[in-house]
Amino acid sequence: MRRAVCPGSFDPVTNGHLDIVGRAAKLFDEVVVAVGVNMSKNRLFTPDERIAMLREATSGIANVRVSGFDGLIVDFCREIEAVAIVKGLRGAGDYEYELPMAQMNSHLTAVETVFLPGAVGNAFVSSSLIREVAALGGDVRGLVPEPVREQLVSRLAERRA
Ligand code: PNS
Repeated sequence: MRRAVCPGSFDPVTNGHLDIVGRAAKLFDEVVVAVGVNMSKNRLFTPDERIAMLREATSGIANVRVSGFDGLIVDFCREIEAVAIVKGLRGAGDYEYELPMAQMNSHLTAVETVFLPGAVGNAFVSSSLIREVAALGGDVRGLVPEPVREQLVSRLAERRA
């Protein structure tokens, strides 16, 4: 059994993330989407909400499961016996950000990082831009799963109220 981890904050999950998770699921026997539950950034959605959205969005892929994690990602990988961390790269900026993390993780343990090129159509899609555009009334249809878009719109309306 070769298990990989797709880690992230997923605030919220986007179609770009789902593309990478789906492709990772074709390369590995099992993919665990690992949601950072105790990371410092201000979040729009709670860890439980982010996990629930991911579970719904990945429910059609049999070998994907979703879990929260706390602490070092390499410790989580060791605990669940994952051999690789899979990350998507939208462009050079992502590579600059991801490479030192991959090198640090490789320094800490034997876990490998596998980079997958993001699909061209998702190159501009990030959780932070989705939050910003949706907060300012822009249409994010087609960039996130529809149930995620609905929760985004209602959470942002609650925040404005
Ligand atoms: O979606 P993000 O915010 O880019 O995800 C970043 C994440 C969660 C993958 C990264 O911050 C992470 O792995 N955090 C866990 C703590 C850790 O292991 N830090 C050292 C990384 S070298």
